[in-house]
Amino acid sequence: MKGIILAGGTGTRLHPITVSVSKQLLPVGDKPMIYYPLSVLMLADIKEILLICTERDLDQFRRLLGDGSQLGVHIDYAVQNRPAGLAEAFVIGADHVGDDDVALVLGDNIFHGYHFYDLLQSNVKDVQGCVLFGYPVEDPERYGVGETDASGRLVSLEEKPARPRSDLAITGLYLYDNEVVDIAKNLRPSARGELEITDVNRNYLARGRARLVDLGRGFAWLDAGTPESLLQAAQYVRTLEERQGVRIACVEEVALRMGFIDADQCHRLGEQMSQSGYGQYVMSVAREMAP
Ligand code: G1P
Repeated sequence: MKGIILAGGTGTRLHPITVSVSKQLLPVGDKPMIYYPLSVLMLADIKEILLICTERDLDQFRRLLGDGSQLGVHIDYAVQNRPAGLAEAFVIGADHVGDDDVALVLGDNIFHGYHFYDLLQSNVKDVQGCVLFGYPVEDPERYGVGETDASGRLVSLEEKPARPRSDLAITGLYLYDNEVVDIAKNLRPSARGELEITDVNRNYLARGRARLVDLGRGFAWLDAGTPESLLQAAQYVRTLEERQGVRIACVEEVALRMGFIDADQCHRLGEQMSQSGYGQYVMSVAREMAP
C-alpha cells in the first residue's frame, strides 16, 4: 500500500501564524504537526509516501524530512498550489499510487489511542473498496458526516451538513483500493469548485463498497486547524507525554519499533538533537531497544 499526506492549503484560519509558515509545520507539543500523520502511515507499515504541499513550503518540508531514508521510508514530494479539494491528491499522486492500494491522511489530523496499531494493521490488508474512520464529535457540521444503520453499516455520507444526521465525523484518514485514482480523475468539482473527498466516498458507498470503522469514545482524534484546536492538541499531547514519560508520534521511535531502522541508526538521529528533550528521548528509546 502507498501513502499520501496532504499538507497543502493556505491555513487561513490560522492567519497571521501561517502567512509565512505551513500549518503542518507548526509545533504540536515538541514536534512539527506533520509528524503525527507521518507516524500514522508508518504504523500502517507504509514506506512509500508522497507528501503534497504548496510550492512555497516544499523546501521547508524537504529540510525537515528529506527523502525519508533516515527513517527507513521513502518520501517523495508533489505540489498543489491551489486548494482544489482533497480528492485532487489522487490526480496529483496517480503515478505514485501506480497499481497499489493507497492510504490518504490529512496533514493536520492527529490520531492517538489504544490499539490504533492493531486497528491499522487489520484494515490496511486487502482493502476492498474504501475504509473510512468515524469518530463521534460535538460539532459534526464542521466535518464529513456518516450515518449508520442499527448494525453499524454506513448508509449515508454528507459534507459539512447544516443538519447532521448523526454525530459521527469522518476523520482525515482514508484507505482505498486502486479504483480511487479513476474515480478522482472523473469527479465533477462541487459547487465550491473542489474535488471533494466526500464525493469519492459516496461513489464507493453507492456501490456498497464503503466500510466504516468507528474509532469510538476511548480514542483521541484531533484536528489542529484553528488557534483553539492547535492549543488543545498541544495540551493533550503534553499532558499524556508528561504523565506517561512516552512520546506520541515520535517518528524515530516509530521507525525503530516498526523495524524500519535499527537501534544504532535511531540513536544517531537522537544525537543530532541531543540538546532537546525530544532528542534525548530518541536516544533513550534507542538504548532501551538495543540488542
Ligand atoms: C476535510 C473533509 C471532511 C473531513 C475533514 C477531517 O474537511 O472535507 O470531510 O471530515 O477534512 O479533518 P476540511 O478540514 O478540509 O474542511
